[in-house]
Amino acid sequence: MSIHIEAKPGDIADKILLPGDPLRAKFIAENFLEDAVCFNNIRGMLGYTGTYKGHRVSVMGTGMGMPSISIYANELITSYGVKKLIRVGTAGSLNKDVHVRELVLAQAAATTSSMIKNEWPLYDFPQIADFTLLDKAYHIAQDLGMKTHVGSVLSVDAFYSDFADKNIQLGQLGVKAVEMEAAALYYLAAKHGVQALGIMTISDSLVADEDTTAQERQTTFTDMMTVGLETLIAE
Ligand code: HPA
Repeated sequence: MSIHIEAKPGDIADKILLPGDPLRAKFIAENFLEDAVCFNNIRGMLGYTGTYKGHRVSVMGTGMGMPSISIYANELITSYGVKKLIRVGTAGSLNKDVHVRELVLAQAAATTSSMIKNEWPLYDFPQIADFTLLDKAYHIAQDLGMKTHVGSVLSVDAFYSDFADKNIQLGQLGVKAVEMEAAALYYLAAKHGVQALGIMTISDSLVADEDTTAQERQTTFTDMMTVGLETLIAE
């Protein structure tokens, strides 16, 4: 047992899908996994292990933001030996060509967070996805005919910000979308020598009049779940 996860050693697979919302973890366990068993309910941060097409995989919520995902990713990696971590979550488009319900594979993540800077004050450490996972996810999504963008995202600390204009300007430099977790996940993966990828579904746009409902955000957006699970089990 670690501080925030009550699972016993061996309860968690070495491959995990990480939605922000614990209810989305439950949704994935109920709709995609067979024989799913709940391994965590501390703080309601639901986690399950089951099988997907015969492969043992886990899924667990991370909460919102980089401090929250960092707690869970740290414990999953260092206490439970997780080796492949794929975040599945929503993001806001920063680019007029990136529309709601489309996928963004986060090749890299810029960030406004000081979490990484605190450890490396003199360096701009590059937050990058694991290329093997990225390559697999891209081809899986292409083969399934899903509209998929590959590029950088912006991971921010504040959902509500007075500086949204600056985020939008980054979109003009090619950053596809804004979200709140990928940079910290990529940093921790680099630090611990494991593989990580962020697969985002665009839920809203900062540059166009496009939106999705809360219900859609909680229980649909299944494309990213399929791509995430297929990527986790791909040899
Ligand atoms: N900002 C930050 N995170 C997000 C957004 C956003 O607009 N949309 C979905 N996740």
